[in-house]
Amino acid sequence: MLVIDFGGQYSQLIARRVREARVYSELVSHRIGPDEIRARNPLALVLSGGPASVYAEGAPQMDARNLELGIPTLGICYGMQLMARQLGGTVESNDVSEYGKAEAALGESPLFHDLPPEQTVWMSHRDSVTAAPPGARVTASSPSTPIAAFEDAGRGLYGVQFHPEVVHTPHGQDMLENFLYDVAGAPPVWTPAAVIEEQVERIRAQVGKEKVICGLSGGVDSAVAALLVHKAVGDQLTCVFVDHGLLRHNEAEQVVETFGGHFRVPLVHVRAQERFLTRLSGVTDPEAKRMIVGEEFIRVFEEEAAGLGDVRFLVQGTLYSDVIESGGGEGGVAAKIKSHHNVGGLPDDMEMELVEPLRLLFKDEVRRVGEELGLPQRMVWRQPFPGPGLAIRIVGDVTLERLEILRAADAILQEEIRRAGLYRDLWQSFAVLPAIRSVGVQGDERTYAYPIVIRAVTSEDAMTADWARIPYDVLETISSRIINEVQGVNRVALDLSSKPPATIEWE
Ligand code: XMP
Repeated sequence: MLVIDFGGQYSQLIARRVREARVYSELVSHRIGPDEIRARNPLALVLSGGPASVYAEGAPQMDARNLELGIPTLGICYGMQLMARQLGGTVESNDVSEYGKAEAALGESPLFHDLPPEQTVWMSHRDSVTAAPPGARVTASSPSTPIAAFEDAGRGLYGVQFHPEVVHTPHGQDMLENFLYDVAGAPPVWTPAAVIEEQVERIRAQVGKEKVICGLSGGVDSAVAALLVHKAVGDQLTCVFVDHGLLRHNEAEQVVETFGGHFRVPLVHVRAQERFLTRLSGVTDPEAKRMIVGEEFIRVFEEEAAGLGDVRFLVQGTLYSDVIESGGGEGGVAAKIKSHHNVGGLPDDMEMELVEPLRLLFKDEVRRVGEELGLPQRMVWRQPFPGPGLAIRIVGDVTLERLEILRAADAILQEEIRRAGLYRDLWQSFAVLPAIRSVGVQGDERTYAYPIVIRAVTSEDAMTADWARIPYDVLETISSRIINEVQGVNRVALDLSSKPPATIEWE
């Protein structure tokens, strides 16, 4: 099914919710016309929310013929208002906007089948539909929004003013499922197993008998992409794991064991810690560290690729959110490859064609596919980890000694966070090694050693973040274990800053 995007803050969320109902969905621009819709042959359309008013200057419009295709369509918020206007109803601006929970009374409708007639819904709008289009029936109301839903079942057109896609509408997912299954007749068949089957076929068709190379970073995206390609073309794939020595405790071993050992994927493990540390020696500027790690990574990768002979394809773990952000979701413009400082962002000038088996998946879907493929839970649920690794968590000079201190402290922190059952609730949790030392006393001796800073945040997307309220007893265990077990550390501090104004990382 297609989610027609009017720029609403929840458009991506709608697509994800539909996929959670196991119906495949894609986000498309509101500029899409009837011919392209027909060509794509969707079972249903959803018109997303959008800006405050359909009357605002430059408010996104849609070809009204899209509503005449006989395809079941659900308009949400702005989508409902636009629909109302195009079908001859009335939309009026309110003096104040309605934002937050509302109690709605629901009438007879296939959307609300088997759901409580009175329930809480989430509103976020300024305009309202004040007269339903001719032939349409009002099916829900709330105290401040008399027309909270309407439908013209004969034409398969449905509108809701509230947002069924957000969790604050407790039965919202049920409504979406009623729409998908009962109104649109879309079967819930889009499962991780189905995704794997489809991608395997696509990859085989694309790659044929050619050789493929894939860079592994230890992260879930490259791991799942590699496993999909390996499932499709077996040993035509070689994975290259550039081990820059800046990963956390045991991570490199796990990549090697999982891929080389368990899955028997041809794996080149490049132990390059010395090379990276040599280049980082004496470098303290964070951006310079990023550049060095990024450049060196590409250099090592290229050297290894050259040694493999005639490789025609390169696997890239591009996600659907990258495709949408780079405009690729808007009517099929080719996606830009992310080429920021991220390690694993591979050279632009490599003359290889890309294989992108995750291009249509959101992050949580990648994880579910990873689970289905048998990837260890630890990898599937790994918190985000920056490409330049521990180099940007060691403030100042990156030396082997300081790297070992941070790695040991971080391992304790990870262990205790997991033991407390907090790992998955936190966006990131890690140790930072600042470039200062302070005085302490251990036994009878005065010490002059490094502090370790505990950084743990909650976040939705890393754009903003809040410091995590970790229980005192967990903090106590982390602190005393680090001070007792890690040589060279005599103090543990907790970072209580949100983002903004701080960033998540220290560099
Ligand atoms: P900041 O520190 O900017 O981080 O709040 C936001 C998110 O991005 C990650 N991060 C990076 N990821 N290469 C990466 O691949 C980098 O150079 C880099 N710097 C920050 C960070 O871990 C957080 O999730």
